[in-house]
Amino acid sequence: MTRSFTGLVTFPVVLSITSWSVKISIRLGAMISICLLSSCSPNESNTQSESVTLIQHDIADLMHIVIEPAAEKIWDSAGYILTIEGETNLAPTNDDEWMEVIHASAVLIESGNLLQTPGRRIEEPDWDELSQALSHAADVAKVAALEQDADALFKAGGTIYNVCRACHQQYWKDEPQRPSESL
Ligand code: HEC
Repeated sequence: MTRSFTGLVTFPVVLSITSWSVKISIRLGAMISICLLSSCSPNESNTQSESVTLIQHDIADLMHIVIEPAAEKIWDSAGYILTIEGETNLAPTNDDEWMEVIHASAVLIESGNLLQTPGRRIEEPDWDELSQALSHAADVAKVAALEQDADALFKAGGTIYNVCRACHQQYWKDEPQRPSESL
């Protein structure tokens, strides 16, 4: 079982050529070697519990497909916009809309954990701290949505934004591709 997974594990990682994925590939390479040398022998009865993480989405994918849409949902559900017709409050207006914010918050809470999964995690204390800060800020947003508190949701959205920015300033090294106004 473990053996059949290892080929899949490397596949999405090698598609990307950023420095992060190089680190990840090296780490996964080490993991696979250990696996081949020890616990994966088909002739050996294996009593140890095994845990293999199948990394389908590297950090950039996780950001693009999972984290950003969830964050946008929260940001689009808090505050006001000015239009020619006047001021529009973006806050959810019914239980279903609040539930969508709860969903988005849950995605961000768990994304903080996903960023610390072996295969994605950058082994530096700041990475863990910023990943956990994302989970905590999203948890505040979730509580605000559960309580249908628009002001608290707006503040939580601001905190989430600051966490995104703080991590990008430190770890998103690919600056030439980054539009200046982006996170
Ligand atoms: C713990 C660190 C960390 C946090 C927190 C974080 N990011 Fe990222 N983000 C990164 C890194 C690193 C990259 C660059 C990934 C790459 O190019 O390999 C990135 C890249 C991105 C990208 C570009 C992805 C692509 O398609 O290349 C988007 C969009 C993004 N982040 C959105 C967000 C949003 C929105 C938040 C907050 C809700 C957030 N990120 C929080 C580390 C983080």
